[in-house]
Amino acid sequence: MKANTKNVVMGLIAPIALIGLFALNSALAREPFTKAELAAQEKALLAAVDHGRDLWHGTKPSMTTNGLACGNCHPDAAASNPQTFPKYQANLGKVIPIRDMINWCIIVPQGGQALDVNSDDMTAMEAYATYMHRGVAIDPGLATKQTSAVVVKSGPGFPKKGSGVGYDQ
Ligand code: HEC
Repeated sequence: MKANTKNVVMGLIAPIALIGLFALNSALAREPFTKAELAAQEKALLAAVDHGRDLWHGTKPSMTTNGLACGNCHPDAAASNPQTFPKYQANLGKVIPIRDMINWCIIVPQGGQALDVNSDDMTAMEAYATYMHRGVAIDPGLATKQTSAVVVKSGPGFPKKGSGVGYDQ
């Protein structure tokens, strides 16, 4: 093919290919979420956060054998620093995601049974801690790299005495 014929052919193919790519792309992309879809997503997220808050305050008996709940030492998820994970945790001797630290605290200070790391309960625990830290910059790193505790303002407290759940059974 002569150079100028080649140029003409390429000049035709390139735009056609571009239009094709564009068409493919818009076929793959989805429509923006509707307000109703976004509201449903937020509801699902907040339900997970709520469930996490309940677990954090002692509603799952298998997570403790000594009556302690996360909220005793981490009210409103204070000092759980989810934004610093994954990080090097000295007592485990390696870099861990927060779910491993959550299980460490269930097993060691609470003498309870670890949660399945792939369970909805674990996701809820993470959702609660992370939600309470929204707006805090992500800063993963070392065990010593901890931010100051979050301000405790709205702790829902512990289940009422005699409610049949949690640390006060
Ligand atoms: C008796 C007090 C106590 C209880 C109860 C407790 N923790 Fe902890 N938690 C600690 C201490 C102490 C540390 C610091 C351990 C370390 O860094 O070696 C810690 C660390 C953590 C960290 C890591 C914080 C960081 O920046 O490294 C997370 C996350 C955490 N706890 C979550 C929980 C969760 C979730 C529960 C409930 C299942 C819980 N803790 C229950 C005392 C407690």
